[in-house]
Amino acid sequence: MDNQNILNAHKWRFACKEFDINKKILPDNLSFLLEIIRLSPSSFGMQPFQVLVLRNHWLLEELSQIVWGGKKQLITASEVILFVTRKDIRYDSKFTEYMIKSVRKLPIEMQELYIPIIKKHQEVDFNLLTDERYLHDWAGKQVYIALANLMTAAAQIEIDSCPIEGFTISTVTELLTNKKIIDPTLQEPCVFCALGYRLSPPAREKTRLSFDELVKFID
Ligand SMILES: Cc1cc2nc3c(=O)[nH]c(=O)nc-3n(C[C@H](O)[C@H](O)[C@H](O)COP(=O)(O)O)c2cc1C
Repeated sequence: MDNQNILNAHKWRFACKEFDINKKILPDNLSFLLEIIRLSPSSFGMQPFQVLVLRNHWLLEELSQIVWGGKKQLITASEVILFVTRKDIRYDSKFTEYMIKSVRKLPIEMQELYIPIIKKHQEVDFNLLTDERYLHDWAGKQVYIALANLMTAAAQIEIDSCPIEGFTISTVTELLTNKKIIDPTLQEPCVFCALGYRLSPPAREKTRLSFDELVKFID
């Protein structure tokens, strides 16, 4: 892809408010997009989140009642993805050990160095352990990298998307917990992404800060 094609995909993408219910994403394209999420980078390679592909119509109906930012998107999208952050991501958790030993497969001598580095990062550098919220927000930062990659890749194959964080975390947590979809001691809803094909063109032109307002070169 050349620069212009990539730029065109970014201009084409918009936060789609309503999808064409008759147009479905092909399984191969969905697999491609999920693979983009899986390949996304994360701090320390920890992938501190999980990806739920919500396909139950009744669940999506119920969610659309409480997700104020996605009322139409959730019930018209071809696919709805919910990123949930993991809570078991302290440096001394089983999950951290699993990631380092079994997923990242770091050599023993590296493992011994790595855990103290993560400990310092969580305890001191980013001060993530004095409030549960901080670790959740750090996990959320990693989610948004995957979310951005997902939306960009989707746009490049002309699939529309809408990121959705217009919801009350506690309300969505309660619904998904009651339905035994998440375990609130281990998971927290972070952001939805609705995917499909636009019903109509964007209602408004793109609006952004000017280049000079946004970018400063420091020589
Ligand atoms: C993290 C995030 C959460 C968002 N949440 C919502 C949402 O709940 N509902 C919605 O309609 N749009 C949502 N948006 C879309 C933004 O409003 C939109 O991206 C922004 O206004 C720029 O417009 P554009 O994406 O169409 O270029 C969200 C965007 C991001 C990045």
